[in-house]
Amino acid sequence: MAKMAASMVEGGEDAFRKIFKFYKRRNPPPDFSDVIDFSKRVPGDQVVPAAVDPGGVSDVEAARVGLQPVRDWRVFGLQGFPGFMFISNPFLPGSHPSWVRQCLKIYPRKPNVCNLDMHMSPSDTQDIWDKSVHGLIGPPSGKTQPKTLLDRLRWVTLGYHYNWDTKTYSANHHTPFPADLHSLSSRIASACGFPGFNAEAGILNYYRSDSSLGIHVDESELDHSRPLLSFSFGKSAIFLLGGTRRQDPPTAMYMHSGDVMVMSGQSRLLYHAVPRIVAAPQGSPASDGRGPASPLQQDGSAVEPLSEQDRDACSGYTHSSRVNVTVRQVLGPGQSFPETPSSHQRTDAEQTEGRHDRPAEGERGKRSRGRSSSCDSVDTAET
Ligand code: OGA
Ligand code: MN
Repeated sequence: MAKMAASMVEGGEDAFRKIFKFYKRRNPPPDFSDVIDFSKRVPGDQVVPAAVDPGGVSDVEAARVGLQPVRDWRVFGLQGFPGFMFISNPFLPGSHPSWVRQCLKIYPRKPNVCNLDMHMSPSDTQDIWDKSVHGLIGPPSGKTQPKTLLDRLRWVTLGYHYNWDTKTYSANHHTPFPADLHSLSSRIASACGFPGFNAEAGILNYYRSDSSLGIHVDESELDHSRPLLSFSFGKSAIFLLGGTRRQDPPTAMYMHSGDVMVMSGQSRLLYHAVPRIVAAPQGSPASDGRGPASPLQQDGSAVEPLSEQDRDACSGYTHSSRVNVTVRQVLGPGQSFPETPSSHQRTDAEQTEGRHDRPAEGERGKRSRGRSSSCDSVDTAET
């Protein structure tokens, strides 16, 4: 345990918040020597090898969604966190940009919902990518450019659209879940021992260098026996995984581009947060920009081919930003939403009002997520 004050790690009142602030601090920057780096692959006291089922997914099925054969995945668990699995970048070389393109160009499209819809008309948020791509390619103009819609994109919801105000999903706010992301999620879940996982809701978070995501638990899904999957691309992040109480001090780990996290079993309902975005490690595709051609260009691929221009634009974005996708199964087999809304659900009119009034970091309780007053899930320091 390096230079973190002993009082911080002993627990006590909101130990999570103290450690969150420790890693978020800019001046002086924190000591990162306690942060677990799964990419360095050294199982030790805390990091333990974890088993996946190579028979659960064929090599062809894996390749169609841009994944390496399951037997080649490097999968870890964490001592004291049963049900938590960390798969260190199981993607095939060159397949990240195809998934990044889906996250930037395809998933923000209607009928999916994004933070910009909260204060703009549907026609204005119609094609975020086409209206923004000029800012990611071509020679720098030398002048400071106005922020594009993509610069201002903070979250997108898929499938059952998460309602940030009531913290619920509902039967009547649902659009088709993207088939490619459904396939990717099924493959990962099968290999991790969850065959039949049904991706029903997704939240994408878009992080700039100064963004963070507040301390929260994801418990709005009605079936907690299903895992929560998390995929990250672009810049790296410090991820904090805590306990069932805010007094439990969290464990810090890096999430690099391509890393996949599975929160299941006893780790499904733990507090977690992203206090800081950090540079991608030297030599990684996210830091270098270009990589090999995408294996997802082949026949049978779940994802459509990637143009040169899209590839360049995606690499421009991931050079300075991070995208995280969490995929959730909301309902268990045969389960449906309760007939009557629970008492804390409000009318549509009230929800619209409430959307612009977010708790500030530190004020929120269990289940709320760090958002600024402009309804951004990810907090961005306005400097
Ligand atoms: C979430 C979440 C973590 C991350 O969206 O619920 O916890 O790594 N995301 O961005
Ligand atoms: Mn979460």
